[in-house]
Amino acid sequence: MESKIKKLLSEMTVEEKIAFCEGGDAWHTAKLDRLGIPGIMMCDGPHGLRKRTKNEKGEMYTVKATCFPPAATMANSWDPELTARVGAAIGEECRAEKVSILLGPGMNIKRSPTCGRNFEYYSEDPYLSGKMAAGFIRGLQEKGVAACAKHFCVNNQETRRFSTSAVVSERALHEIYLPSFETAVKEANVQTVMHSYNRVNGRYAGENKELLTDLLRGEWGFDGYVMSDWNAISSRVAAYKAGCDVEMPPAHGVRTAEVREAYKNGEITQEELDRSVANVLRVILRHLPAAEKETFSPEEHHKAAAKAAEECMVLLKNDGNVLPFAPGRPLAVIGAFAKKPRFQGGGSSHVEPLFVDDITEYLAAENGAEIRFAPGYDEKHETNDSLIAEAVAAARACGRAVVFAGMPDSYETEGRDRRHLRLPPAHDRLIEAVTAACGETAVVLMAGSPNELPWADKAPAILHAYLGGQALGGAVARILFGRVNPSGKLAETHPVRLEDTPAYLNFPGDGDTCFYGEDVYVGYRWYDTRKADVLFPFGHGLSYTKFAYTAIKAEGNTVTVTVKNVGAVAGKETVQLYASARPHPVTSTYLGASAFGFARPAHWLVGFSKTELAPGEEKELVFPLDDRAFSVYDEKLGAFRRIGGEYEISAAASSRDVRLSVTVTVEEDENAVPVVTKNTIFEDLFLDRRYPREVVEKLVTVLFPGTEPQQGGEGLNFDAMRGKNGYVLRQRVTDLGEKLPPQKLDELIAEANGEIRAIYAARAKK
Ligand code: BGC
Repeated sequence: MESKIKKLLSEMTVEEKIAFCEGGDAWHTAKLDRLGIPGIMMCDGPHGLRKRTKNEKGEMYTVKATCFPPAATMANSWDPELTARVGAAIGEECRAEKVSILLGPGMNIKRSPTCGRNFEYYSEDPYLSGKMAAGFIRGLQEKGVAACAKHFCVNNQETRRFSTSAVVSERALHEIYLPSFETAVKEANVQTVMHSYNRVNGRYAGENKELLTDLLRGEWGFDGYVMSDWNAISSRVAAYKAGCDVEMPPAHGVRTAEVREAYKNGEITQEELDRSVANVLRVILRHLPAAEKETFSPEEHHKAAAKAAEECMVLLKNDGNVLPFAPGRPLAVIGAFAKKPRFQGGGSSHVEPLFVDDITEYLAAENGAEIRFAPGYDEKHETNDSLIAEAVAAARACGRAVVFAGMPDSYETEGRDRRHLRLPPAHDRLIEAVTAACGETAVVLMAGSPNELPWADKAPAILHAYLGGQALGGAVARILFGRVNPSGKLAETHPVRLEDTPAYLNFPGDGDTCFYGEDVYVGYRWYDTRKADVLFPFGHGLSYTKFAYTAIKAEGNTVTVTVKNVGAVAGKETVQLYASARPHPVTSTYLGASAFGFARPAHWLVGFSKTELAPGEEKELVFPLDDRAFSVYDEKLGAFRRIGGEYEISAAASSRDVRLSVTVTVEEDENAVPVVTKNTIFEDLFLDRRYPREVVEKLVTVLFPGTEPQQGGEGLNFDAMRGKNGYVLRQRVTDLGEKLPPQKLDELIAEANGEIRAIYAARAKK
């Protein structure tokens, strides 16, 4: 492959190479007939193929395709194998349409539940988001279709998305906003990346060499091509030099002229030009469409979409076991969504579905008895006394009811953020009325992100269908009647009120600046550290059976959890593993800070596993833990650093339902050589386990003449240092006067740093 690319590069003229810095048209890469290089097609999705093309009359239309559940829904499955199967099915549809690149998955983090595009993203948690995205990419790419990790990066709002600057700490950037992309590259070898519209700390994401080249290619090993989001380019030359290979869509040659000019004056080098063309050729050659016609079965894919939806719906509440409904009794089916469901979001991801289920038909089939439908609200999502009265009468007459409610299309769409978390008032009013009239009522919600639910206490059962894709009807009916046991768990926290959310004070920002004041405290990291009330926690989801967590053990880097189905029916449980740092014995425990210098969230997700269990069955689940589970991004070091100490590893059914814990001890990161400066705090010399004890003792003995280190203890164990909390080294110059001139301190510090480096070098050799 690389030799073929080399040969093509040697045969191309500069002008031909420049043509490759933009697309051939809005949906193709550039082509070069002279050398037989075709333009390959890229299309939106990602929860189905959205191919825009022309009909015989030359009019644009969207080819019909299977609409699978969007990412926000898929994430509730906590099953990367499922996203892989869906990715593979979509890959087959791409192949059948000769589409080589699917523009997804979206893997931005849900910083605020009001981001209008959250339905396209997986989670508020970077670990979960990365694993789910990687599954999808693997499945898609195994079919020969390239995926596109988007939008790289820190694209967490739609308001002023083309200009806003996300002002985010390096630590939050690396711990929260980048890891899903890292996983997509390292674990799934994603073939293309789309840079985002927004700026990151003042600079456009597409003009950021540290991100697009140093990190993405240098550290992570990405070898495909980077494209711009559609019409994102501000300065083509700056973007080119930073590592954006292709501008999409092409800008009528305007900016290729800029590249040509920059090449002529030496600003863009031959090497840079070749680099980008090679990146594009690599993807083209790997993803040529098949010459022969390929097909897929729409019926089979509809079934696969239904299966996916079944795995993703979340039973939020089930007081008095209202669900599952027993068949054979009349059932009032209330809410216009039952006939015309909401199953995907709006904007560039909108798929033209092949079929859409009418939920009432599936409910009737499962029930085998009377189904009485009442719309409850009209097409504008408004209601009136007679619609409410009709719904209440139906519920009373049947003795049980299911109400379909949620967010209309206009609430969740690309290009616009939500201003509140409420449902349409008509939906709230309908639910209040029906639950007041009929005790045996289940509410089914259809929405791609959380809502405030003022009636949550009054509705005995709530099933969140999220956005279920075109085959949601059968899935909903089978879950409501217990043919399928629900197993989805929330991939995002559902807050009580908008005001409680982490980014509330800083969303969507002032003008073109959005300050990420909540830092790493995103999602449950925020709610759980603050012990704040939530409506439904991250990871929550009920089942028609019960699971007992019976054992946990840790051996080396592996934690094993035993889980048992102690109920009467088969079901699936997702065991979640969280790590939390034990408070350091000497430093404060404020804000969950576990050691000097780094505040840590109360806990964070480090593993998960979904398993199916028959009644009475017990299984051992094995979780290998890697360094990242115990690391923070150390801004001073510019890298992740494993922090030594004790950690509690908990097996949990949700972030608020910890069942079992085990303590593990982790060694300090040996690669992170610590440095002493005149502004180093004495306390840190003791608490930061990376400072070799002998060096610290020597230094402190000189700086506090006459003291002897005491044995044992971890903190300020020098008598003379009592009461000097927070003292920094340079302050001893004033205290000691002539005995410690500033140059002497500098020499001592240099000596200590030399010794530290020597000790680390010697350890590394071993
Ligand atoms: C969206 C991308 C999409 C592209 C092409 C942009 O506005 O942000 O996600 O892939 O349009 O439709």
